[in-house]
Amino acid sequence: MSPTSRRPRLYAAAVAAVAGALAVGMAVAAPSNADSSGADSSGADSSGADSSGADSSGADAAPTLGQLAAAKGRYFGSATDNPTLTNVPYTDVLGSEFNQITVGNTQKWQYIEPSRGQFDYTQADQIVAFAQAHNQTVRGHTLVWHNQLAGWVNDVPAGELLGVMRNHITNVAGHYKGKLVHWDVVNEAFEENGARRQSVFQQKIGDSYIAEAFKAARAADPNVKLYYNDYNIEGIGAKSDAVYDMVKSFKQQGIPIDGVGMQAHLILGQVPSTMRQNIQRFADLGVDVAITELDIRMQVPRDATKDAQQANDYRTVVNACLAVSRCVGITVWDFSDGYSWIPSVFPGEGAALIYDENFGKKPSYWAVYEALGGTPTTTTTTTTTGGTTGCTATYKVTGQWNGGFQGEVTVRNNSSSTISGWTVKWTLVAGQSLGNVWNGVATTSGRDVSVRNASYNGSLGGNGSTSFGFVGSWTGSNPVPANVTCTVG
Ligand code: XIL
Repeated sequence: MSPTSRRPRLYAAAVAAVAGALAVGMAVAAPSNADSSGADSSGADSSGADSSGADSSGADAAPTLGQLAAAKGRYFGSATDNPTLTNVPYTDVLGSEFNQITVGNTQKWQYIEPSRGQFDYTQADQIVAFAQAHNQTVRGHTLVWHNQLAGWVNDVPAGELLGVMRNHITNVAGHYKGKLVHWDVVNEAFEENGARRQSVFQQKIGDSYIAEAFKAARAADPNVKLYYNDYNIEGIGAKSDAVYDMVKSFKQQGIPIDGVGMQAHLILGQVPSTMRQNIQRFADLGVDVAITELDIRMQVPRDATKDAQQANDYRTVVNACLAVSRCVGITVWDFSDGYSWIPSVFPGEGAALIYDENFGKKPSYWAVYEALGGTPTTTTTTTTTGGTTGCTATYKVTGQWNGGFQGEVTVRNNSSSTISGWTVKWTLVAGQSLGNVWNGVATTSGRDVSVRNASYNGSLGGNGSTSFGFVGSWTGSNPVPANVTCTVG
């Protein structure tokens, strides 16, 4: 799709006014973030004025995760896959919120060299082009891996496999030379106990295959950062010890390695307590560290308690990275629960990411946002008396400056069946007044505010959510409302 294609701008006039008001807010609330990222959502996306429910128009007032990370000398990215590149609500978020992208599948061997000597870069090139159009850096993933390997590789005679592996790397890394910042050169080469995984490469080439892969990658693209990438190496243990020993010996021998990727496919409540310390010991070897595939899965369905734990866990991971200067960035393994690999691989688990299925920002998003230095936000949630047939409104202040503020209300359908309309109400406190509202239709009576769904976001599937945004002004203090109600219908 064209990266500039957007949904119709239903509220263009209101949005223009909002953008004006927000320029002030930006300057006061987040001066250091306004323009600090080379990969932010400025340029084509900076109006941000689309009316999608995902990252609503005025949301450009608040910095993105990419901008916040950039202000700390890091990136915050997402993996993506080709089927989602035509999904506009999805790409609206992907293209604006992140300053880094990892190619989620289509650089894997089975896609890129499906038969011996036949290379197909079509799909991966599309992802790289999307990233370039949105000023995002790209991590290549992955050159040598036992999974998603083309079947023919298993049949290559032992004496030929090193040549086949080198040829693959020379071609693929050569094709992307100068276009990527990081490459996962070898993926998942160790077992949990620290032994080498008995992949076809290990069996037919032997221990040296990893070093040979790194040497071939360096020759093909001298400037890209070369990473070893694995899971369950986030904390100190037998597996991370084995990777540590390998990196140490590579450094001693002059084998080119620049970084270690910790995938961080984590389980709710189980962020390893030694994560910061472990990142630090790798950094002390003279390599960078990246959190490359972060997701934190839970038993579904999610609920407020699990969401809060997950937010805590995300915060812990971000803080562990920020604590070590050589931890260069964090990538989530896709960003929306509707597009995560988890449910298909871990039955009964999911909800592992920072946006829900409808691109509503979850508590985990706000935890990352805050850990990256975003303006603290305040939340109040009120569930209507409708209980499981009702809806829940979550009110947040997403940015605040002298005299003004921006708010966002997420509306969640409590029931498992579709609802066709909703109304959210709250009461302003003395000194507050409501400005423009987007993705909802507001009426006010004195201090009472009532926001009804817009024509396009009233229908919410089972447990689905949407959000609307607004700007307001304030004097005195700017508390969140004591009571926010959500009514279906
Ligand atoms: C996953 C993809 O997300 C899925 O779409 C695919 O079916 C399987 O692979 N570790 C990795 C990633 O290094 O490449 C994996 O990605 C997830 C685990």
